[in-house]
Amino acid sequence: MKSRPRKRAAPQSGAAKSEKLWGGRFAAGADPTAERFTGSLAFDRRLWPHDIAGSVAWAKALARAGLLSAAERDAIVRGLATVRDELAAGTFPYRAELEDIHTNIERRLQELIGEVGGKLHTGRSRNDQIAVDERLYLREVIARVRAGVRRVQEALVARAAETIEAPLPGYTHLQRAQPIVLGHHLLAYVFMLQRDRDRFGDCGARASAMPLGAAALAGTAFPIDLEALARDLGFAGVSPNSLDSVSDRDTLLEFLAAAAITAMHLSRLATDLTLWATAEFGFVEFSDAFATGSSIMPQKKNPDVAELVRGKSGRLYGNLVAVLTTMKGLPLAYNSDMQEDKEPFFDSVDTLEAIFAVVPPMLASLAFRTDRMRRAAAENFATATDLADYLVRKGLPFRQAHGVVGRIVRFCETEGKPLEGLGLVELRRFSPLFEDDAKDAVTVEASLRARAVTGGTAPDAVRRSLALARTLIARA
Ligand code: ARG
Repeated sequence: MKSRPRKRAAPQSGAAKSEKLWGGRFAAGADPTAERFTGSLAFDRRLWPHDIAGSVAWAKALARAGLLSAAERDAIVRGLATVRDELAAGTFPYRAELEDIHTNIERRLQELIGEVGGKLHTGRSRNDQIAVDERLYLREVIARVRAGVRRVQEALVARAAETIEAPLPGYTHLQRAQPIVLGHHLLAYVFMLQRDRDRFGDCGARASAMPLGAAALAGTAFPIDLEALARDLGFAGVSPNSLDSVSDRDTLLEFLAAAAITAMHLSRLATDLTLWATAEFGFVEFSDAFATGSSIMPQKKNPDVAELVRGKSGRLYGNLVAVLTTMKGLPLAYNSDMQEDKEPFFDSVDTLEAIFAVVPPMLASLAFRTDRMRRAAAENFATATDLADYLVRKGLPFRQAHGVVGRIVRFCETEGKPLEGLGLVELRRFSPLFEDDAKDAVTVEASLRARAVTGGTAPDAVRRSLALARTLIARA
């Protein structure tokens, strides 16, 4: 004989038992720890506007298919409007024992309109219901997130416009490399963020297939006009495979990936700024409003906001990896594991929105020390490439020019002189090709002006890319 754990006490009343959606099949009630463990109301409640929208459209579709009378449809739609008002007003009686937001809403509807409320779930499952709720929410969120990215772009563009003539050293390997202008550096992030904004848009386009109608997994058994339903809910079309509809979360993953990439970009911007704010660089000062002090060191001013923008990239990456990992081993079709998509997803939405709120005003309040940048741009032989390019223009193959200027730099280092400190006689010791105009080639301004190609750091080129950035940002 099989040994079974001692039966849990049967529920006291039929009413308690019928609280569950699956009451008919179950003789015993749920263990309270199991109930707490499986419930999702604490976090999926934010989907209520989309759950109601999906249900209203579903009720209308049922009526069109002859499954609800006009009166029944109207009662359900009116009842859902009341539920919506309660939710919006904060008077909705949430019940954690009803597991999730879908069940809470459906049960409240039944309380309000009686038995006819029980017809709403005809031909539908929570599996396609959650899929459609998440897509509706995703589309709304994408619009908000793209607007947030744009606000960061606008803040960067405003600072770039002021700093097109402001030279600073550009770096490779974190070593001074060649002069650039600050506007060029800031615009680099604007174009990165433009691709981020596009990525969110692409994700939205793929989220425009409607999963409702898949029911549990095999497709609804009722003749619902899914195309009309999709139009009603603002989807571009109907998802072509019911298993796919309820099994995948790849549109969420795309969102999480786009969020992680955006966070990576802003993290690098934050690193530039925190580095520039050090005494060693001294290129920027954070305003008091976007910095913090130390509890022990009275002199400290820390770029906390920038540091935390950088730090939050960690959770945005983590959320992507969490959902990827949750999904990777799941057999088709729906599995409860997929309930674990929500908290990482919502956390990424909230974290992005927090970042987008703080970064634009922080950028606006930065004080750039362009005098110090200007000085640094002229140091450390930053225009050595320009001297080699000078020799190239006189006909010397670049490899030889590189060697000549390398020897000049070594000479200057031992002499403790800058490049522009060398006279023509000294230069000619390294190559007879040098003439009087050589000294003009090694100024910061000449170095900048030379880089006039599309995408280069010459102020005129930067002005053109600023205009392009403004055009891209103005687009929806
Ligand atoms: N809370 C569930 C989720 O987030 C909703 C779908 C539940 N479906 C089910 N068969 N248990 O995925």
